[in-house]
Amino acid sequence: MGKLTIFGYLREQWTKLPISTADVSDQSLVVVGANVGLGNEAAVHLAQLKPKSLLITSRDEVKCERSKADVEIRSGMTGIESWPLELCSFDSVRSFVDHFEAKGCIANVLIANAGISTMKYTKTPDGYETTFQVNYLSTALLSLLMLPHLVKAGTPEHASRLVIVSSECHYLANRLKGADKWPSIIETINDEAYCTRSVMMNRYFLSKLLEVMFIRELSFRLPTPTLVAVSAVNPGSCHSRLTREVESNPLFKFAVRIYKGLVARTTEMGSRTLVHAAIEPGERERHGHYLSSCEVTEESDYTLSAEGREVSKRLWHETLEILGDIDPRINTIVSEHLIRDVA
Ligand SMILES: NC(=O)c1ccc[n+]([C@@H]2O[C@H](COP(=O)([O-])OP(=O)(O)OC[C@H]3O[C@@H](n4cnc5c(N)ncnc54)[C@H](OP(=O)(O)O)[C@@H]3O)[C@@H](O)[C@H]2O)c1
Repeated sequence: MGKLTIFGYLREQWTKLPISTADVSDQSLVVVGANVGLGNEAAVHLAQLKPKSLLITSRDEVKCERSKADVEIRSGMTGIESWPLELCSFDSVRSFVDHFEAKGCIANVLIANAGISTMKYTKTPDGYETTFQVNYLSTALLSLLMLPHLVKAGTPEHASRLVIVSSECHYLANRLKGADKWPSIIETINDEAYCTRSVMMNRYFLSKLLEVMFIRELSFRLPTPTLVAVSAVNPGSCHSRLTREVESNPLFKFAVRIYKGLVARTTEMGSRTLVHAAIEPGERERHGHYLSSCEVTEESDYTLSAEGREVSKRLWHETLEILGDIDPRINTIVSEHLIRDVA
């Protein structure tokens, strides 16, 4: 059904999730947004398993240094690479990938975890609404620029993994109705006049839906059997700093604290969902899917509807057009690694 029900939600929130113990000794892993929250806990879990290499990212050099020290101390792993990556800037994404290539790095796993939740309409220096760029456009740019590396590291026996951290909130996204008739979906989504207060209240949900759609569209275009298994993961509602903006209001802070106290998972528990998708066997069964509590789960009804499928397909093409202008490598990657025409 692809629906979020209160009982289903609570049952999941209170479910204890498995801790992954897969052998990653020959794996090179990348975790984006690892200075705090789910990305940080996922990085610690992965580091404890002693991968061949671990590269984590934070927004700036200071956070990079701190998160490297933190993950190394908590896991006992040494030699973790910690690089800056700011998703408000396409240049930062491109520089990150340039650096990755210049150093001849390898990636068996990319966990695209970084994300924000804000109801304020602000634009990045690149001219896109911030939630839209951080959670969707830059995440898509990074994922596609890293695709050749994931393909290179994948084998028929063991596909590489791209894990985008989405959310059950994608079920609540309600701002795309009729979008199949919009002249440009992305232009509309990004338009300040369209982004009224009520639209911005649903913004985070929309960004998480776009991630689910991106993963589905990407999976349709990867050749079978794929060398890269892609999935969108819901970590569940967790105690993290994601709600920092809402919590800046003392009244909401109180309400959020009570709500979280009752239902939220620890970030450590939520991070197990990221780690599971990244390293546990069964990646081909999860390929192209949305996962919740470490299981393949149906996406929202809208995603699966005729309109949702059409919107998803158009979004894919509009996204590639924008990303191709930002970085010409995107066009080469698409022609070399993806099937062009999908019904
Ligand atoms: N917590 C939940 O209940 C929940 C539920 C479902 C899905 N998720 C998803 O889980 C992911 C992680 O969230 P979290 O709960 O761990 O929140 P968090 O504690 O706020 O961590 C978010 C991470 O993303 C980074 N980030 C934010 N904006 C960025 C930017 N412009 N460029 C680069 N990195 C940026 C943050 O860096 P800074 O510290 O520098 O800001 C931080 O490392 C997000 O994608 C979120 O949507 C969370």
